[in-house]
Amino acid sequence: MGTNSPTFIGKAAKSPKLSLQYESIGENTTTIRSLDWERSRFDIEFGLRNGTTYNSFIIQAEKTALIDSSHLKFKDIWLKILKNKVDPQSIDYLIVSHTEPDHSGLISEILELNNNIEIYGSKVALQFLENQIHRPFKSTAIKTGNELDLGKNLKNGIHHKLQFISAPNLHWPDTIFSYDHGTNILYTCDAFGLHYCTDELFDLNPEVISSDFRYYYDCLMGPNARSVLQALKRIQSLPKIQTIAVGHGPLLRDNIELWLNNYHQWSSQRKTTDGYAAICYISQYGFCDRLSQAIALGANKAEAEVQLVDIRASDSQELSALIGEAKAVVIPTWPSQADAETQSAIGTLLAALKQKQWVGVYESFGKNDEPIDVIANQLRGLGQKEAFSPLRIKKTPDANTFQQFEEAGTDLGQLLNRKKNIATIKSFDGDLVKALGRISGGLYVVTASQGHDQDKRRGAMIASWVSQASFKPPGLTVAVAKDRAIESLMKVGDRFVLNVLEENNYQKLFRQFLKRFPPGANRFEGISIIENVAQGGPVLSDALAYLDCLVKQRLETTDHWIIYAVVEHGNISNSEAKTAVHHRKVGTSY
Ligand SMILES: Cc1cc2nc3c(=O)[nH]c(=O)nc-3n(C[C@H](O)[C@H](O)[C@H](O)COP(=O)(O)O)c2cc1C
Repeated sequence: MGTNSPTFIGKAAKSPKLSLQYESIGENTTTIRSLDWERSRFDIEFGLRNGTTYNSFIIQAEKTALIDSSHLKFKDIWLKILKNKVDPQSIDYLIVSHTEPDHSGLISEILELNNNIEIYGSKVALQFLENQIHRPFKSTAIKTGNELDLGKNLKNGIHHKLQFISAPNLHWPDTIFSYDHGTNILYTCDAFGLHYCTDELFDLNPEVISSDFRYYYDCLMGPNARSVLQALKRIQSLPKIQTIAVGHGPLLRDNIELWLNNYHQWSSQRKTTDGYAAICYISQYGFCDRLSQAIALGANKAEAEVQLVDIRASDSQELSALIGEAKAVVIPTWPSQADAETQSAIGTLLAALKQKQWVGVYESFGKNDEPIDVIANQLRGLGQKEAFSPLRIKKTPDANTFQQFEEAGTDLGQLLNRKKNIATIKSFDGDLVKALGRISGGLYVVTASQGHDQDKRRGAMIASWVSQASFKPPGLTVAVAKDRAIESLMKVGDRFVLNVLEENNYQKLFRQFLKRFPPGANRFEGISIIENVAQGGPVLSDALAYLDCLVKQRLETTDHWIIYAVVEHGNISNSEAKTAVHHRKVGTSY
């Protein structure tokens, strides 16, 4: 529970479980938090399965402003509480931090209650809204430096003046932050948020939420690290930040410095001198948005710098520069009957490509896409080098599709960093490397699977950096390289299986899992496995033993995650047999 006792309204009995929280967060300022306890992990950033919240805010001074709304699924209970607590006729302004439907899903309904509300948003946001709500509305376009004076609250005299800060690409192109000089609250919508549904209003326990905070950053903000650094610079000039009122998860108040430092550190790490991959997408077209995020997430895992580019939202000069300077460019299929604006953006994109850049193409699944082969051939004709085979989609994208796209992104990231990684290894001291190579280990195959039926994701890898790490409860660690495909299935709360390979009987499994698999490939093809004995994933029939593990903690090193897991269950096929042992010559490889 939070510091104040929260009010819960409209707890719906039926699944999915939804509820609302109405709470004061500062002088004359309240939040309506829509608690979505069971939001699935289908969207890439919902990896930790702790649900999410959609937070909106009301500031009441001489004028009343509402900041953001909620997801359409909260329509009935959200509008009911709004009408109970505030007279909709008294609302003067609606500030739209960005137009993603989980925050802007009720704008139409709010305008139905009061058509005089004036909408404040970035120029791009207002354009998006016109397409979204199909009704005329009063609006003012805002950017960095603009202000909105809400006047003084008549009871306590506090003066609420909002200062706006453009924060494009965090994580939508139209994002704007608002800072209230009356309360020192900074409203950031998606930025600094996390998907974590709890009735705790604030970030009292950072250790509980830090892995979700990190995962959210990796999925949504990491791909826009340059924009994150720009936004951090802009907010540095604000007088003081008491609270960061985020659009998802608990509000940040008790550990603000920690979260801001995290964003700064992670975004600075992502800036390299080796060139970036411009991952293009067309917002609000097919599955383009989420598919581009999956590619970006994968590339980030390989420590490559990426820049997500919404081709329609960037002006042509900016787009030309972003594409021309990139080391790799990833391009979606576009609508075969594209509107003039999209056509012009595509024209600019293609004209800005440089010879010798790496390129990759992916299907947007917008239903009337220009054929991917036509685009791929066009690019080959321009003399471009192919970073990965065209990514095709045969049916509505599911977890497998996102896995395939993420893995293609990792391949691209590895390609961009290949020279740097080879140089790093060559720079090691020879004697040290030989001495380090005397550390030996066993041979194992880690397997993991999540989801069901067509939404099932599976992974496997050979591992030898494995060690028992606790007696009570029985626990172990596995060091997993940050760019391993299976790493995405080994977050805190996930399960995996450690298959122990047997001395003199491991060659077949070893060869199988060391193949270079194309993105999204079935790594178990031709291998005998037993499903459903272990919760974490498939058990290999030829393994000597297996351990069914639950991930409890992850420790970050420069290039690996040390994953600590508790062993919940295990079995052995032959008590007499020994584990396959792996001896190395050097410490620069496994
Ligand atoms: C003997 C041996 C031991 C390995 N041990 C580990 C390990 O402990 N952690 C790790 O991340 N990768 C390890 N690897 C590398 C991966 O198994 C392998 O490269 C990986 O499956 C391919 O990467 P991908 O799954 O991301 O495509 C090892 C490789 C070998 C040959």
